[in-house]
Amino acid sequence: MILIYILLGIASSLTHAKPDSYATWAANSAIARGQGNGLSNGVPLVAYDDGEFQWALRLLYERDGNESYLDYIMTGANNIVFDNGTVHGSYDVTDYVLDPLRTGPTFLFLYNITGESKWKTAVDIFRGQLDSHPRTAQGQFWHKLIYPNQGWLDGIYMGEVFYAQYTHDLQPSNTTAWDDITSQFQLMFQNTIQNATAPNNTHLMYHGYDYSHVAVWASPDRGHSPEVWDRALGWYMMALVDVLDIIPTSHPGYAVLLHILQTLTPHVRDAADRLSGVWWLVITQPGRAGNYFESSGSAMFVYALLKAVRLGRVQDPDGSIVGTAKKAYGYMVQNWVVPNADGTMSWNNTVVVGSLNLAGDFDYYISQPTDINDLKGLAAFVLASIEYEKL
Ligand SMILES: *[C@@H]1O[C@H](CO)[C@@H](O)[C@H](O)[C@H]1NC(C)=O
Ligand SMILES: *[C@@H]1O[C@H](CO)[C@@H](O)[C@H](O)[C@H]1NC(C)=O
Ligand SMILES: *[C@@H]1O[C@H](CO)[C@@H](O)[C@H](O)[C@H]1NC(C)=O
Ligand SMILES: *[C@@H]1O[C@H](CO)[C@@H](O)[C@H](O)[C@H]1NC(C)=O
Ligand SMILES: *[C@@H]1O[C@H](CO)[C@@H](O)[C@H](O)[C@H]1NC(C)=O
Ligand SMILES: *[C@@H]1O[C@H](CO)[C@@H](O)[C@H](O)[C@H]1NC(C)=O
Ligand SMILES: *[C@@H]1O[C@H](CO)[C@@H](O)[C@H](O)[C@H]1NC(C)=O
Repeated sequence: MILIYILLGIASSLTHAKPDSYATWAANSAIARGQGNGLSNGVPLVAYDDGEFQWALRLLYERDGNESYLDYIMTGANNIVFDNGTVHGSYDVTDYVLDPLRTGPTFLFLYNITGESKWKTAVDIFRGQLDSHPRTAQGQFWHKLIYPNQGWLDGIYMGEVFYAQYTHDLQPSNTTAWDDITSQFQLMFQNTIQNATAPNNTHLMYHGYDYSHVAVWASPDRGHSPEVWDRALGWYMMALVDVLDIIPTSHPGYAVLLHILQTLTPHVRDAADRLSGVWWLVITQPGRAGNYFESSGSAMFVYALLKAVRLGRVQDPDGSIVGTAKKAYGYMVQNWVVPNADGTMSWNNTVVVGSLNLAGDFDYYISQPTDINDLKGLAAFVLASIEYEKL
């Protein structure tokens, strides 16, 4: 098997021959580099991109039955949870940050298959955070305690996938929780969607909003940030398609989330660059000097679009949604998948951060560095590939 991978690697580096599966090639390459294992420079760290990657590995495990993925998920989770279930790795409930909760679905998965009580203890610690997590007057979780009254799209992926999976697995009849999850998506949508008179209206969602309107970037009218950032919207779109699998169809929230997904999807499709097929870093300013095609957001959109259509959540009568995703995917494997001499691949052009701690404007976003093998982007590429390979 190793030999086959070496040969495959040589073949692809020489001729760009297609591997059997980009999803497994990308996942195996990240694993070979020791990515997404709960450690950062050898030190335990609860990291949301590990949670994102483990979500993809679980899907691959269920698809291919490769036990190595299960072992890798377990090793990574064990690196940040003590035997008694206490979550460590720089996690502190009182920081009230949504990001670490994205590793919670991994613990729920492990609890489901092993029945070990340590995972139940760990998820209850995360769930306990939500019970006292600070909120806006409307009820939106603050992105972090240090960012009062701010809702960021990223936080929906970090918080709600866990909140929904927890409720599904452990409190399925808690309608208050399902209402709350629905409301998190809805408030974020209402407060950040571009309105009809917005300049460069893409009908998409700004990166975030400040309910108290005091952040330097908050618009005077609604408190939203100035730009649509590809990865923030990518997180939100992934959260929509993933939580729609989890929330009971009998709960009214299902229809609410479905409606938001159906509203956004055609606009995500239309925001793809016509020539390349992929998405700009700053979606609201296509073609402006300094803007560029960014790989993590693009991969997230491909995943979300393909999954939405595959499951019939969104109709695609003229094939334009799947067509857009396929074109983008073609660009991605051509330009952002880099074959290495050792048979692994690398993933290029992922912007390292995009935060609302500074001006949140165009100049801010384009000034952030890109990196190779950033797991936020690479994990999204595995997810996109899993969907693409189902076509
Ligand atoms: C299973 O996954 C491991 C870890 O990435 C990889 O090394 C191995 O080649 C995979 N096995 C198969 C049969 O693909
Ligand atoms: C859990 O185990 C860790 C590591 O051994 C220890 O530091 C911590 O105090 C324990 N927590 C509880 C609640 O027992
Ligand atoms: C485990 O996962 C399966 C499949 O999603 C689900 O049907 C079952 O309810 C889960 N069990 C627990 C204890 O969470
Ligand atoms: C149901 O969810 C709500 C909202 O998160 C929470 O306050 C409540 O404690 C949950 N109910 C139970 C029985 O745990
Ligand atoms: C729509 O957005 C523009 C630009 O941000 C703003 O001037 C206007 O007040 C907004 N209108 C509504 C109804 O929110
Ligand atoms: C609208 O987009 C164009 C080009 O994409 C850009 O040059 C311009 O600055 C944008 N306008 C605003 C108000 O963002
Ligand atoms: C990654 O992309 C950057 C910018 O497009 C490029 O300069 C660099 O050579 C690429 N890296 C690899 C290993 O291809």
